[in-house]
Order: sequence, then C-alpha cells, then structure tokens
Amino acid sequence: MKILITGGAGYIASHTNVELLKEDYELVLVDNFSNSVYESVERVEKLTGKQVSFYEADLRDPEAIEKVFEAEKDIFAVIHFAALKAVGESVEKPLEYYENNITGSLNLYKAMRKNGVQNFVFSSSATVYGDPEQIPVKEDAPVHATNPYGHTKAMMEQILLDAAKAHSWNVVILRYFNPVGAHDSGLIGEDPEYPNNLLPFVSQVAAGIREKVVVFGNDWSTPDGTGVRDYIHVVDLAKAHVKAIVKIKNNRGSFIYNIGTGRGYSVLEMIRAFSKACGHDVPYVIGPRRPGDVAEVLADPSKANNELGWKAELGLDEMVNSAWKWQKLNPKGYKN
Ligand code: UFG
Repeated sequence: MKILITGGAGYIASHTNVELLKEDYELVLVDNFSNSVYESVERVEKLTGKQVSFYEADLRDPEAIEKVFEAEKDIFAVIHFAALKAVGESVEKPLEYYENNITGSLNLYKAMRKNGVQNFVFSSSATVYGDPEQIPVKEDAPVHATNPYGHTKAMMEQILLDAAKAHSWNVVILRYFNPVGAHDSGLIGEDPEYPNNLLPFVSQVAAGIREKVVVFGNDWSTPDGTGVRDYIHVVDLAKAHVKAIVKIKNNRGSFIYNIGTGRGYSVLEMIRAFSKACGHDVPYVIGPRRPGDVAEVLADPSKANNELGWKAELGLDEMVNSAWKWQKLNPKGYKN
C-alpha cells in the first residue's frame, strides 16, 4: 500500500517512515529541503533495509506536486508534514508562513482531488489550542491559536475538513503536543539549524556547543515556577501515524486526536533528567518569560487511546537518553 509523505526528510517524518516501512508500506517522499537534508532519507533506508521513492519538490509549485501524483499511481493516502514551524519566526514573517503552509496545502489538496486520492493524515499541533482554558486539553476545546504559525495549522485543519466533507475524504488530524527524543539506533533525530525548542537546546548545551540554557521564567503558576509541557517521544508519535492509516483503512469520516502522554514535566525537570542522561550538570540561568508562552499545556490523550488503539509507551528516561545518544553520535547533526 502506497503512502505519499510530504516533508518526508524531516524530523517527525523520518521516524514515521521507519515505522511505516516496518509494516511494509511503500513510501513516496516529497521534500524541498527547507529544513532537512537527503541524508535522513538514506539513514531511514539503512535502518530498515528498505528503499523509498523520493522527489525533491516544493508544494508552493503546483506543477511539481502534480508531477509526483502523475508519476506515482495508486497512492492510498497522504501524510502531510511539510510546513514551516518556528513560532517566533512566524511572528516576524507571517506572509511567508501563510504562503508556505496554506498555499502549499491548497496545492496538495487540489492535486489529491484531481487524482482521486481520498485518504489523509494531517500533522497538526497543540498550538491550535493557544492558551487552553482547561487542562488536560480535550479535542473539543476551542481552537484559538495565538501566533501566525498556529493560525496556519488551524486553517489547514479547517480547509481540510471542508474539503473532506465536499469530496468524501477520510481524514485523521493528529494534534501533537511536544515531540522530543530520537530513534534508539542513534541514526535519525532532530537536526535544527538553530534550536528553538527546549530539548534540542539543552542537548547542545550538554554537548558544549552552547554555553547555558536560559529558562524562560520561574514565576509561572506551576509547582516549581517553570513552564510545564506534555513531552511525547517521537517514536511513540511516529507509531500514532501508523495507527491513523489503519483507522482510515477501516473507517470513513474525519477524526481529530490529541497525541500526548497526559503527563507533564517542567523545564527544570527536563534539565535535571537530561543532566542524568549525559552524566554531568547542564548549566542554566533563569531569564525572563518568552513572549507568547503559557504556564502549562497537557493533553488528554484518551480519545486516541480508545479510538486509535494507540498509547504512548516511552517515558522521560527514553526521551532524554535517545536525544543524548543522537547528539553524541551526530554532533553536527546529519552534516557529519
Ligand atoms: N523553554 C525554555 N528555554 C528554552 C526553550 C524553551 O525555558 O531555551 C521553555 C518554554 O518556555 C516552555 C518549554 O520550555 O515552557 C517548552 O518550550 P518549547 O519551545 O520546546 O515548546 P513550546 O511548548 O513552546 O512549543 C512547542 C512547539 C510548537 C507547538 C507547541 C505545541 O515549538 O510548534 O509546542 O504546544 F505548537
């Protein structure tokens, strides 16, 4: 069964590719390398002993994406990862974010319609909930994103649901909480040019690449005053995509699921866990709050547990140990 993966060379895609190949799916990957490199595709092939088809294409170019659908007949489903994803950058360059994420998705949806592909898994984010009123967050919580990146994810969801209704598509939207960690082989992992997120930053400080972590505020209304998030191991997250494909095979309609553990950790707890993983203290200082941050975000993953038959299995130790292994084995990411 053939699956088209956009953003196929990226962090979450590469882990998803491994899980799909293990289940004998045939993969067609598309990427424009805006935040990824081909090496990750080769590593996935090495890790699984399987080959994928690859197309370098930018979703903003409708002809380029059309060509992929023309060349690859009988695509069963699309998993759409390709997007710009840095919150801060999205505030500075909103038009680039809308163009890339919205125009790119529209071109993809149109190519699907033209080629009669009706199954879709969407890589969404807890960012669509903004600052949630109730914790843990359920899927029916109001969507009110607080930055252009979040708005694009919410819009991409809405356009997709409208298209699904009109064209009888089957859709699974996965709203990820905070993906972290790496494959336990140490072959694939997160390779940011500049780390915006907590764990890749901690990891580079632990490796001596950066001097210290700045903790963005210790006066939040949380037990130790630092921000609490629902960190989810990227391999658990990858497996949720396999379950989403199974869901679509067996059910018609549109479904939305939170993908998290339901358990939160503070910034200081993450730094302590990482210090244990790398065997030395990770230096940090307390700094001011980061604009746009919230105190606490936690998933209620029970809908995914019950309806997808998916549950996060990996805990904090696996998250930090795998992140550290990836960092140690690949000090310059894929550019070794
Ligand atoms: N933090 C620090 N120092 C850093 C980086 C982060 O203290 O150098 C803190 C943040 O203030 C927050 C926590 O660590 O309390 C996690 O921050 P991240 O930047 O890793 O993650 P966010 O929760 O802010 O955002 C992430 C993704 C978004 C996604 C969102 C969904 O970056 O794309 O989760 O909740 F939308």
